[in-house]
Amino acid sequence: MYQVGNLVKELTEKHGRARDSLMPVLQGIVAKHSYLTDEAMVEVAKELDISAAEVYGTASFYTFLDTKERGKYVIRVCKTITCAMKGKSEILEVLEDMLKIKVGETTSDKLFTLMETNCIGWCHKAPAMLINEMPFTELTPERVVEIIKSYMKK
Ligand code: FES
Repeated sequence: MYQVGNLVKELTEKHGRARDSLMPVLQGIVAKHSYLTDEAMVEVAKELDISAAEVYGTASFYTFLDTKERGKYVIRVCKTITCAMKGKSEILEVLEDMLKIKVGETTSDKLFTLMETNCIGWCHKAPAMLINEMPFTELTPERVVEIIKSYMKK
């Protein structure tokens, strides 16, 4: 059986137990298990000798460190100012309609999770979103429909 404590120990041995090891350790857990459980965060807090609240705060601030189980494809729509001004709300509406979920939710077949994110560095081609690691830019409602359809077929 998977022992989260062992993985956390392994990672803290590798990255050290200083406060600035927190991010690499959390990333290491996500890399292996795709999201952070409460149990994993408590283990990290113990190993690094910091509060569980601090671990949780860091994990939830960086939305890439998921604290819930996610779908196979995690869609992150940029909500920062340039994308917001260039029609991010419309993009989000199309996604919600198509997937029949709201931001923060996962489709019942566990294929898609819909999230918002802060700027992902594609402001010059706003509005932008990520599906897992893949950026999609200069989005229009029509393009979004095409993109999601192609993921549904994968
Ligand atoms: S504001 Fe959306 S990518 Fe920068």
